[in-house]
Amino acid sequence: MAAQRLLVDVHSHVYLPRYASFLRSRTSAPRIFSRPNPNPLANGKSEERLLILDNEPSVGRPIGPQYWDREEKLKFMDRHGIDISIISSANPWLDFLPASTAHELARELNTDLETYCSTAPSLASAPSLKRLYGFGLLPLVTFASMTSLLDTIDQILTLPHLRGIIMGTKGVGRGLDDPALEPVWHVLAQSGLVVFLHPHYGVDGQAWGEQENGHVLPLALGFPFETTTAITRMILSGVFDRHPTLHVLLAHSGGTLPLLSSRLASCIAHDPIVASRLQHDARHYLGKLYFDAVAYGAEELGFVSDAIGRAGAFTNPNPNPSEGEGVVGHTANSRGVGLEVRRIVGSARMLFGTDHPFFPPLEETERWMSVVENLDAIDGVDGWGQEEKDAVRGGNALKLFGLS
Ligand code: URA
Ligand code: ZN
Repeated sequence: MAAQRLLVDVHSHVYLPRYASFLRSRTSAPRIFSRPNPNPLANGKSEERLLILDNEPSVGRPIGPQYWDREEKLKFMDRHGIDISIISSANPWLDFLPASTAHELARELNTDLETYCSTAPSLASAPSLKRLYGFGLLPLVTFASMTSLLDTIDQILTLPHLRGIIMGTKGVGRGLDDPALEPVWHVLAQSGLVVFLHPHYGVDGQAWGEQENGHVLPLALGFPFETTTAITRMILSGVFDRHPTLHVLLAHSGGTLPLLSSRLASCIAHDPIVASRLQHDARHYLGKLYFDAVAYGAEELGFVSDAIGRAGAFTNPNPNPSEGEGVVGHTANSRGVGLEVRRIVGSARMLFGTDHPFFPPLEETERWMSVVENLDAIDGVDGWGQEEKDAVRGGNALKLFGLS
C-alpha cells in the first residue's frame, strides 16, 4: 500500500515564534541572545545564539530561522524526502517556569502548534493527511497543580493535529515515578496520546572532566543516560503495570535501556522489595515501549529491535484470559515460574526520526549527515527486510499516530 511507504519523521523540533520571543526576553539560560558575528564575511552583522543546557559553554549554539520558521521546516523535509513530520517543542519546554505562568503558556503554545500544523500543506500523495502533526506541551513544572495538567490534556484532545505530548524527565519536580503523576498517566493511557519522552538535563556535569569537549559528552552520553534513568524509574514504580495501554516513545532509541535491560532484570530479581512490586521481568516492559530510530548506526538499531523482540519471552501469565492474544507459547524463568511467550516484532516499535533542527551540517550540504546516517542505518539492519524497513521509515508512525 502506497501510504505504508511514506517517510515520517517522529523526532523533529521547533521553537515556536512565541517561545523564541520569550527566550529572547530572558537574561539567564534558557535564552536566545545576540552577539556580533565573529565571521568576517558577516560584515559586522549580529548573530543569534541559543543557550539552554546547564554548564553549556557560555557562547551556546548558533540558532536561526530553521528553529522557528515553518517554511524552513518544510524545505528541510522536501530536501530529505520526508513526507510527514510530527513536530515537538524543543527542550527545555516550560520546565523552568513558575506554575503560575506555565499553564497559560502551555495553552497558547498548543494552540500555536495546532495552527502551525493545520495550516500546513496536505500531502500530495494522500491529500487527507497534512504534512505536519504535533506533540503538545503540558505545564510540567515544580508545584504544577493537577488541575492545570489535566486541563491541558483536555485542551490537546480538542486539537486534531496534536497526537501526543512531549515530556522531559522532571515531572512536577520529583521525576516521572512521582505518585502525584498517577492521574496524568491514567488520562494519557485512556486518551491514546503518545508520550514522547525526551531528555534535557543530562547527568551530573562533573562526570565530563575538565577538558573542553564542547557539547559532545552531554549530548552523546548525558542525554541518553537521562532518558534511561527516567524510563527505568517509571518501570520500577509500576507505571506500565497499572497503565498497560500507555504509549511512551523514547528519544534516541531508548538511551541505554535496551543494552542494560538484562542487567536491570537481574538487579531487580536480587532485590526482594522491588521484585515483589513488579508484575513482570524488567525485559517485558521493552515490549510496551516505542523507540525512535535516532541511533545513527545499523548495528545499534538491530540490537534495539532484538531486545524489544526478546521482551516477548518475559511476560507473566495474564490473569485475564480475554487479553491473552498474541501468546505463542509458554516457558519458565530460571526459578521455574511459568511465563507466556508473546510474539513481539521489535522493528514494529521503532520509528524514523531526525532531531531536526539540531545537528545541522558544519558546512553547507544538500542533505544533512544526521539524516542520511539515520536513513542508511535503517537500510543496513541485518535481518530487516523491505517490510520492516518501510515500517520503521513510516508505517509504524502512521499506525501509532492514527494517520491512516
Ligand atoms: N540538543 C538539544 O538540546 N536538544 C535536542 O533535541 C538535540 C540536541
Ligand atoms: Zn530531540
